[in-house]
Amino acid sequence: MAHFAIVGPGHAGSTLAGALKAAGHLPVGVWGRSLQTAQQLAEKLHTPVYTQPSAALSSADWIFFTVPDTLIAPVAERYARSGLILPHSVFIHLAGTWGPHILPAGWPRLALHPCVSLQGFDQSLQQAPLVAEADAPAAKVAAERIAASTGAHLLRFPGTDRATYHALCALTANLVPALLQKIAMQLRSLGFTFQEADELITSLLDSGWRAVRTKGATGFTGPLVRGDVQTVQHHLSALQNRAPGLAACYRQLSQLLLASLSEVSPAQEEKEGKNGTSSALANSLPL
Ligand SMILES: NC(=O)c1ccc[n+]([C@@H]2O[C@H](COP(=O)([O-])OP(=O)(O)OC[C@H]3O[C@@H](n4cnc5c(N)ncnc54)[C@H](OP(=O)(O)O)[C@@H]3O)[C@@H](O)[C@H]2O)c1
Repeated sequence: MAHFAIVGPGHAGSTLAGALKAAGHLPVGVWGRSLQTAQQLAEKLHTPVYTQPSAALSSADWIFFTVPDTLIAPVAERYARSGLILPHSVFIHLAGTWGPHILPAGWPRLALHPCVSLQGFDQSLQQAPLVAEADAPAAKVAAERIAASTGAHLLRFPGTDRATYHALCALTANLVPALLQKIAMQLRSLGFTFQEADELITSLLDSGWRAVRTKGATGFTGPLVRGDVQTVQHHLSALQNRAPGLAACYRQLSQLLLASLSEVSPAQEEKEGKNGTSSALANSLPL
């Protein structure tokens, strides 16, 4: 059992605090920018609330700086300079973009990025991937204890290109759902209920990704793969009328799919005796 402090009581801070408390760890306090927002989390944790560094920090084994990414370095620096934090405390942030080194030197530092959309106190972290980069053995041990006690799955950050890593996470977690939400709205405007739209999207997404995950680019299906130019033309004119933004996405993503297909199709086309079909297809599409 460890003592933990949360600095930044938003989505991430609340989710982590809930999972740590459920795992038997003890909160020493919640630090917020204003008492009002911090109070809600503090009440759930039955712990005091603060807006400035305070003596309670000295009993924290783990201090989580769950503030917006750009505030992590200045806020953690201010807390470090308070002189209230003991040398054994591990400084932790959850941002995907940064490694541990944006936290102040002099303490074990840990970047622990939950690869999951964090929504609040009652969300479990069971099976959630936590991508960790530690700069000291004590920070590594903290990551292992947090993952083991919450049921999360610890992964080591494998390289140095955190900006690309986090951009890919944002594409998957934020931008693809933004596209799916627009698709759901269009399905509803065609007359489907919300539940029906959700069922259609989930079925298509699950089966489509499962096929590509297991078979690579040969798992793609649909009119582009079949070379059905007329169907693609129908799609584009329908979308252009109803939702020009989706038509633009359709064009852009079609280019991406065609590029993936062209990587596999030469061998396949040779086998089927129709050399050059995929590039001819790419040229004839209204993209
Ligand atoms: N949400 C996710 O799905 C997710 C997933 C992975 C990683 N993360 C990471 O988690 C971190 C927090 O993101 P979030 O989504 O939880 O953001 P958020 O919901 O906006 O929460 C940020 C919290 O920090 C507080 N805060 C701002 N300045 C502060 C200060 N000087 N002292 C104390 N608290 C302060 C804010 O208070 P106010 O309410 O008063 O503004 C707010 O409660 C980021 O590094 C992010 O990259 C988030």
